[in-house]
Amino acid sequence: MSFPSSRPRRWRRTPALRRAVAETRIDPAGLVLPVFVRAGLVGARPIASMPGVSQHGAASVAALAKQAVSLGVGGMMLFGIPETKDAAGSAGWAPDGPVPTALAAIRDAVGDELVLWADVCQCEYTDHGHCGPLDDAGRVRNDAALESYVLDALAYARAGADLVAPSGMMDGQVAAIRGGLDDAGHTDVGIVAYAAKYASAFYGPFRDAAESAMVSGDRAGHQMDPANRREARRELRLDVEEGADALMVKPALAYLDVVAEARSAHDLPVAAYHVSGEYAMIAAAAERGWLDGEAAMREAVLSIRRAGADLVLTYAALDLAAARS
Ligand code: PBG
Repeated sequence: MSFPSSRPRRWRRTPALRRAVAETRIDPAGLVLPVFVRAGLVGARPIASMPGVSQHGAASVAALAKQAVSLGVGGMMLFGIPETKDAAGSAGWAPDGPVPTALAAIRDAVGDELVLWADVCQCEYTDHGHCGPLDDAGRVRNDAALESYVLDALAYARAGADLVAPSGMMDGQVAAIRGGLDDAGHTDVGIVAYAAKYASAFYGPFRDAAESAMVSGDRAGHQMDPANRREARRELRLDVEEGADALMVKPALAYLDVVAEARSAHDLPVAAYHVSGEYAMIAAAAERGWLDGEAAMREAVLSIRRAGADLVLTYAALDLAAARS
């Protein structure tokens, strides 16, 4: 009778043995919590399609930031919902808009202990819900949108953002924002490029949360086709050339091959966005008792780390950090 001499199970016998050889970990410092701040809101208002996630006013977002710091979470990414919307989305760059107000309140509360990211896009601020001003055919005008993004980025940089993250998928957005920030002296503010952002059905709950659903049409004219991987390589390379400080892939779970590609082809930090629908699927199944929500969320985020992401944006950031400590 012959027995195997190589026995991988030796390393799996006890939790301590397994922990010792774990190749990937979820370090709270690499987690980023996306947060919705709404102008004029007092307190927090739960979002029905994202169990456990709320919209926040300035005071409640500052309290949330303190909680994030106490759990060791690395950063927060802000999305704003303005009081009024117009065709140009001018509330996006208002100095007293929801994002600049929240950035100032958070800095006041936690100083430099959190990395503050500000999403840059116009879809929350336009009355038609598209990511920039439209032409007569209803398409987003690329270069006009860039001008708005520069104004947004400047407003967020002035209010204390460490990083701005353009998510509109307009051509040239990283170069335009880099130029605008540098000309205004904000050379220290970094740009996390949503380099490979797909036109995904998994953004559904976000559009409730950010009140950014389109009145008509879709975003397939600027966001990427889910069928394409080679094209992602090109988008990633262009954003590196334009001066990005980190590369983001979004969504994360359905695009782990693209996360791995970004990691192997580039030496910048790679971020991946575990988006609203990816979060909500697990949260909804857990509510029904169909799976263990905490374990499934951990496994999902671990898989994103294993694919090569240094930074993971996830609505489960606080829960994951709390479970760890
Ligand atoms: C804005 C933006 C979206 C998300 C992040 N930034 C929505 C969209 O492109 O329609 C989605 C995030 C999520 O689903 O969690 N352009």
